[in-house]
Amino acid sequence: MNPVHYNKAAWDHQVSIGNRWTVPVSPEEVARARLGDVHMVLTPQKPVPREWFPTWQGCRVLALASGGGQQGPLMAAAGADVTVLDNSPKQLARDREVAEREGLTLKTVEGDMADLSAFASDSFDFIFHPCSNVFAPDINAVWREAYRVLRKGGTIIAGFCNPVLFTLDLELEKQGVATMRYPIPYSDLTSLTEEERGAFLPAGEPLAFGHTLEDQIGGQLRAGLVLTGFYEDGWDADQSPIHRFLKCFIATRAYKPV
Ligand SMILES: C[S@@+](CC[C@H](N)C(=O)[O-])C[C@H]1O[C@@H](n2cnc3c(N)ncnc32)[C@H](O)[C@@H]1O
Repeated sequence: MNPVHYNKAAWDHQVSIGNRWTVPVSPEEVARARLGDVHMVLTPQKPVPREWFPTWQGCRVLALASGGGQQGPLMAAAGADVTVLDNSPKQLARDREVAEREGLTLKTVEGDMADLSAFASDSFDFIFHPCSNVFAPDINAVWREAYRVLRKGGTIIAGFCNPVLFTLDLELEKQGVATMRYPIPYSDLTSLTEEERGAFLPAGEPLAFGHTLEDQIGGQLRAGLVLTGFYEDGWDADQSPIHRFLKCFIATRAYKPV
């Protein structure tokens, strides 16, 4: 099974069932962004600190695997020259919907976050990459490509999962019990049997991958990026019992040295 093809259809399906990461921003949020008040998340809850943002006016932004009519339109409203790359045509349609509704200009490109060959090297000032690499089987390729398309001195901010999230026994997790079962790296394709996939992944659920921190943080460093910011974020305990014990989401800020 090709996970990128599979996840294209799965995310299109998520749009049709109203997954929260597919719900476009409101006119009020866009109006605030036009005034420079850009409220965005890289992780489930915590807003990205303002000091992580660039000067928006004229900034060439790549919203990487970030469709859904959410961050792309807000950055465009603040004055940035935004390109949204996403694998799901319906997620990209959300961005175009908001752009049309609000009279904003942005570009949408359908593609795989691990292959940014649609873009020239050094062509973006800022990359916004929310918690999406959980859907990519190879994140080292994502970091390498992000580094290539970023201009020297440019910044990338990214959200990703602490891999401990993928260690849990899925049957017990549903009952509210956190017990480790799966080693990391985790893959819905290889860590689960076909029977378990059928039992734990509802039809139309995207395939997910639990990457090591060596690939998440070390992967950025190996690509040539220099880390300058870090925070953790949590989520509601009704999503998983593990959120009672640990903040399972991480955000980083890094730049491409001159
Ligand atoms: C959780 S949503 C993120 C978008 C959302 N705006 C946010 O704030 O997090 C994950 C996104 O990653 C996209 N995606 C999944 N696999 C991808 C891939 N291989 N390349 C590009 N985008 C991908 C999905 O289509 C989806 O829009």
